[in-house]
Amino acid sequence: MEDKKDVLILAIESSCDETASAVVKNGREVLSNVISSQIALHTLYGGVVPEIASRKHIEKINEVIQEALDQAGVKLSEIDAIGVTYGPGLVGALLVGVAEAKAISYASGIPLVGVHHIEGHISANYIACKDLEPPFICLVVSGGHTHLVVVRDYGKYEIIGKTRDDAAGEAFDKVARAIGLGYPGGPKIDRLAKEGNPNAIHFPRAKVEDAPYDFSFSGVKSAVLNYLNGCHMKGEPVVEADVAASFQNAVCDVLVEHAIQAVKDYGIPKLALAGGVASNSALREAMKAACEKEGVSFYYPSPILCTDNAAMIGAAAYYEYINGVRSGLDLNAVPNLRLGER
Ligand code: KG4
Ligand code: ZN
Repeated sequence: MEDKKDVLILAIESSCDETASAVVKNGREVLSNVISSQIALHTLYGGVVPEIASRKHIEKINEVIQEALDQAGVKLSEIDAIGVTYGPGLVGALLVGVAEAKAISYASGIPLVGVHHIEGHISANYIACKDLEPPFICLVVSGGHTHLVVVRDYGKYEIIGKTRDDAAGEAFDKVARAIGLGYPGGPKIDRLAKEGNPNAIHFPRAKVEDAPYDFSFSGVKSAVLNYLNGCHMKGEPVVEADVAASFQNAVCDVLVEHAIQAVKDYGIPKLALAGGVASNSALREAMKAACEKEGVSFYYPSPILCTDNAAMIGAAAYYEYINGVRSGLDLNAVPNLRLGER
């Protein structure tokens, strides 16, 4: 019998403020994972400026892709498919990666596979946990999305809960700005919270009526802003570390409660975290403890695979590719692409 050939994916990600490229073998093994971050540039403005993001992607994308191939020690001619994020995200940013992937595919004849960004985040778990197979429940918590997803099979998703307003990462970023920590707020709150008391201030844990898996974070964000305003009005000192720890605790409580409820209701004892907020240390600890208590297997990617990267896009593209998915040269950026939609 002929040996099964390895499948090499060249992946490209440019949906927000990271220009990234990676080479991934058989969906699970990362041969290279190059990320050119624009964070320092956007910090000046307190958030991502879409036009600046697009311009920076255009500047960086060729060298990032070349570096990904070089670090992997792989020639373009050895690549089986090109995986590229085509949505959701900032349209101008997405277009850079999509146009680049199409140009390489056209010039080389290598097949093209368009990937959903959130599918990429979920698939980061396949790299981190070699034995993870669907079905499992995945809590996706990023700067733009908060989804509770039943992963039925590779490429088959059922969204059972989502945020009604702010995404979890967005709430972290807005609260960090209010405390004066700057952008991006998530990692800064994470760090500061370690010095604070998570029970110092009680912030609300919102429930959405008749939708047990949906989330709402605008209430807790407003409660923090009101608390800070109240302190300023009364001339009381603000203990920033306590505010950070108490806010983080409120968000983690809700995320853990919803995820564990889903695991129980669906009878799927496997839970994975994904997205930038999945690198939050308090969330990881709280979810780990809850999973241990309930006898649930818990999976999470390393921090570098939680925030935007192309290795996760390569993992997702691999499973689409072996299932026969191909994108045409008419592939376009879809800023509000829904998970599971092609
Ligand atoms: O997944 P990601 O890199 O980009 C999107 O697809 O949105 O997520 C970025 C988000 C930002 O809101 C950032 O503040 C948050 O993830 N984040 C964190 C942490 N690291 C990144 N939030 C909480 N704790 C962290 N350690
Ligand atoms: Zn992302």
